[in-house]
Amino acid sequence: MSGASNLKGLILSGGKGTRLRPITYTSAKQLVPVANTPVLFFGIRSMVEAGISEIGIIIAPETGGEIREAVGDGSQFGAQVTFIEQDSPAGLAHAVLTAEPFLGSDPFVMYLGDNLLQGGIKGLVDRFSADSPDALILLTEVDDPQSFGIVELEDGKVARLVEKPKEPKSNLALVGVYLFTAQIHDAARAIEPSPRGELEITDAIQHLVNTGQTVLSEVVEGWWKDTGKLADMLEANRLVLDTLHGSNRGTLIDSEVEGRVVVAEGAVLERAVVRGPAVIGEGARIVDAYIGPYTAIGEGCVVDHAELENSILLDGSSISHMDSRVEGSLIGRGAKVERGPKMPSAIRLLIGDSSHVRLP
Ligand code: G1P
Repeated sequence: MSGASNLKGLILSGGKGTRLRPITYTSAKQLVPVANTPVLFFGIRSMVEAGISEIGIIIAPETGGEIREAVGDGSQFGAQVTFIEQDSPAGLAHAVLTAEPFLGSDPFVMYLGDNLLQGGIKGLVDRFSADSPDALILLTEVDDPQSFGIVELEDGKVARLVEKPKEPKSNLALVGVYLFTAQIHDAARAIEPSPRGELEITDAIQHLVNTGQTVLSEVVEGWWKDTGKLADMLEANRLVLDTLHGSNRGTLIDSEVEGRVVVAEGAVLERAVVRGPAVIGEGARIVDAYIGPYTAIGEGCVVDHAELENSILLDGSSISHMDSRVEGSLIGRGAKVERGPKMPSAIRLLIGDSSHVRLP
């Protein structure tokens, strides 16, 4: 039994994505692909798997258009999607209030659109339905508690929640998935903006605790990733690629494919060696090249006379004629990385704002 009959979904897909610049100057961070699938789609799919089909997606004015375009009406996922525009990134609790007309008095799952949760949310939804608390929050141990909402438990019960504490009293962080009843709206109205100027969901949950509502917690099983930074994005890519089943719909000419590799339709490998797990997108061309483990190559990319591993190439980008192997890299849409004629051996760059280039 899913028990999700009147449970709605709320996915937060606004925000500026400052830690993934320059990619996020032109694209929403929730659409950056992990194993060639936008991060946001994993959240939508896990809601549908848990029996939730009525989903609201919070979007920002700047990036809302491309999120609408990518998600459509939700029918590709078996969901009905309503887009809700939040005019300013004024915090997660502000997002909840913005969504109140959509949510009404129904309970809901709130999911941060750049989060990935290996085990999905079905188990959580079932527990929420069975135990009927006012909130169910998800926790995980982290090494850098200053960077998260942190929860202190007393006798196993949620006692205190602090957003990004300077002196953390625990290392249990709030994961970006929360289940709420409509009580959260009043709590969100009762709190004041935090020092970073946002209405924090962490403070709203503290308000529920203070006013005697039942707030249950659960520690995540399996991995969880917030993909807001490059290192986390690459790690999420590795974790998802590890679950891949290989398949080949492309053309291989004098090429070797080892391990779990997905070669999409229209992709051409010529004198290439690909060692999985890896995914090669539609229409990509891999020529005289080596693709190492944990690499995701988007649609229409070209890798020519180059070696690449543990990297993400967004659609239409290319890497060619490199002397050293490219690794741990995230290459934006249509970006070109190439080595010029040998002489003079100068470096020429046309690099977007906030880009990061590290040469050997
Ligand atoms: C937000 C929440 C924080 C939570 C984190 C999880 O932080 O405010 O409590 O631990 O998501 O990803 P932000 O991404 O806004 O820094």
